[in-house]
Amino acid sequence: MRGVLITDLRTPHVLVDRPRVFRNLARMQAAVKARGLALRPHAKTHKLAWLAQQQVAHGAVGVCCAKLGEAEALASAGASDILVPYPLNPVNAGRVVALQERVSLSFVIDDLDVARAWSAAMRDAGRRADVLVKIDVGFHRCGIDPSLVDPVPVIEAISALGGLRLRGLISHAGQCYHAHHDDELAQMARDERDLMVGIAERCRARGIAIDTISMGATPIARHSLALDGFTELRIGNYVYFDRTQVGLGAATWDDCALTVIAMVVSRPAPDRVILDCGSKTLSNDGARGFGQMPGFGALVPDMIDNTPDPSCTLERLSEEHATVRVSSRSALRIGDRVRVIPNHSCVVSNLVDEVAVVEGRDVVDVLPVTARGRIS
Ligand SMILES: Cc1ncc(COP(=O)(O)O)c(C=O)c1O
Repeated sequence: MRGVLITDLRTPHVLVDRPRVFRNLARMQAAVKARGLALRPHAKTHKLAWLAQQQVAHGAVGVCCAKLGEAEALASAGASDILVPYPLNPVNAGRVVALQERVSLSFVIDDLDVARAWSAAMRDAGRRADVLVKIDVGFHRCGIDPSLVDPVPVIEAISALGGLRLRGLISHAGQCYHAHHDDELAQMARDERDLMVGIAERCRARGIAIDTISMGATPIARHSLALDGFTELRIGNYVYFDRTQVGLGAATWDDCALTVIAMVVSRPAPDRVILDCGSKTLSNDGARGFGQMPGFGALVPDMIDNTPDPSCTLERLSEEHATVRVSSRSALRIGDRVRVIPNHSCVVSNLVDEVAVVEGRDVVDVLPVTARGRIS
């Protein structure tokens, strides 16, 4: 796209800064390699065939997809090894069998009855499904909660079922997004590791093979990487980062690779500026962090430097408007362009059909968001 500048794009538009993305990929891959671990990035963050390929080219063993629809889209775009870290229901057996024809597929189970239903479905299809058992390590979403049920007998029963091949254990310490300080994050990483390794050791003592222990969440990745015992890091947001990751100490502003370029469309009061990016672009997600993180993103006045203007707060979003509180001395005028570092980059990717890949001020490509909206 010779000669196209980011300021030539219609606004709002999502920008993906290629040098920053490549730096994020290379840095994490090097850290994982130094620890002798496998990296299996979660493609839900970017949903782009191009970035899934880049992650594998950098050394990832495969990718994760949040749902079968995402996996189908990325398989069609060339992904060959996909883990769906989601408790798939056996009503999806036909889709799973069809995907197995195209890729090496694994998914998550956290319930013995569901495992039995999968076992029956796969035996009927003359197939075997690779599964990992999900353990609830404190997020209290999916997974076997060891404070309620001893996971080991359940894992043992699953490992004995025909039609299934138990690959190992999986966890996601999503509670880390609510940490108040770095020591708490470090403790969460240790607790997750201890719980997972303890369960794996008890399984192995019973003769159950646990090849994979897959853990991962970007805010605690730096702490998890200092620990032994697990085999696979499964992180997603690290490819782009966002305001929440800066708030949780996982990234600097300069690491944030996804931004939204927006235009000032109104300046109705000295202390108020209106941008053309609303909740349809940024989502209504708040930011998390160790301190207060008010507002719906960080306003960045420069087109290259990611330093936010601390005097601007995106205090309210309508669908197509961001209402920004500014200093009355702000020089922002109607027609000016700014960038926004969103609170949560993963949801922003899902809201747009295409992203502009940029280097500095230059647009080098415009790519369709391959798995956008594949929520089922
Ligand atoms: C099950 C599961 N694994 C891994 C991840 C990756 O987390 P993060 O984006 O914090 O790296 C997510 C993210 O939501 C997830 O739901």
